[in-house]
Amino acid sequence: MIGGGSNMLLLNDIDRLVIHINTKGKKIIKQDENHVWVKVAAGENWHEFVLWCLENNYGGVENLALIPGNVGTSPIQNIGAYGVEVKDVIEKVYAIEIATRKETSFSNTKCKFAYRDSIFKNVQKGKYIITDVSFKLTRKNHDIHDAYGAIQAKLSEKRNKKLCIASIADAVISIRTEKLPDPKEIGNSGSFFKNPIVSKKLFKKIQKEYPNIPNYPTYQKQYNSEFLILNSELVKLAAGWLIDQCGFKGKRYGDAGVHKNQALVLVNYGNATGQDIFKLAQKIQNKVKERFGVALEMEVNIIS
Ligand code: EPU
Repeated sequence: MIGGGSNMLLLNDIDRLVIHINTKGKKIIKQDENHVWVKVAAGENWHEFVLWCLENNYGGVENLALIPGNVGTSPIQNIGAYGVEVKDVIEKVYAIEIATRKETSFSNTKCKFAYRDSIFKNVQKGKYIITDVSFKLTRKNHDIHDAYGAIQAKLSEKRNKKLCIASIADAVISIRTEKLPDPKEIGNSGSFFKNPIVSKKLFKKIQKEYPNIPNYPTYQKQYNSEFLILNSELVKLAAGWLIDQCGFKGKRYGDAGVHKNQALVLVNYGNATGQDIFKLAQKIQNKVKERFGVALEMEVNIIS
């Protein structure tokens, strides 16, 4: 089953049934003075949905502009960028259980969203077809997420003093266009690896040698609680930085390569096979493990 097909790597040709979800439609199911609830068909293109929200002044997804893929696949890996994850605006995920053909729905909590993860990517993988997603968006008093360093830098470069959902989307679109390759021009699946979460001990060890290593606090949910608490034992590192330090950025091996502006993105210059890309990914994993002792986990769906 595929949506936009933008987050997968085929190791071989597939000689079996493939279902491409291509349903369309956006429906306002409820609104009040401050919020609007919109139900969107799984086959809608994600970025077109973001543009539609901007046109209607609906806030919540502007930081997620220009992410490739479809609305129906957005909850699976809980797409995220520049300080926002789609879990922040999802109200419900509607699905069909393949085994029973019954329609069902998952509340936000039932989706068990985490960093680039959800129930649809682990325990319930391959068991449901997502048909629609409903979002709760703001109609006024939008929550502006501009804390991410790259957004701040872009806003000041553009001398854009007016903070609104349109200026945030504009900044995000500029950053992504500069940094990330367009899949229409050069094959890629965005970040190939997840940013790894390591023990504080390992982080301190690496930091001794590389004082400028980017690092982020990690949060976790307490059992049976909605709230995230800071986990002081764990630290999130930037996989792109680790790969960059190993000298891979911009390197090309035949038609498989590492993007010149963002080492976390693997690219296909034309004729690389799935196996070629996969071998390059393994080479990177081995080198990062050897140099830093950090295991990188592939984020892209590997299909064999
Ligand atoms: N960095 C380098 N060299 C590189 C790449 C990055 O030194 O080649 C450093 C940067 O300077 C920065 C840090 O690593 O200090 C993090 O880089 P960046 O801000 O570009 O973000 P990222 O952690 O590499 C994540 C997401 C992206 C998302 C951006 C912005 C993951 C796996 N990736 O990338 O998501 O767009 O943050 O929020 O979490 C995707 O999932 O496909 C994707 C593109």
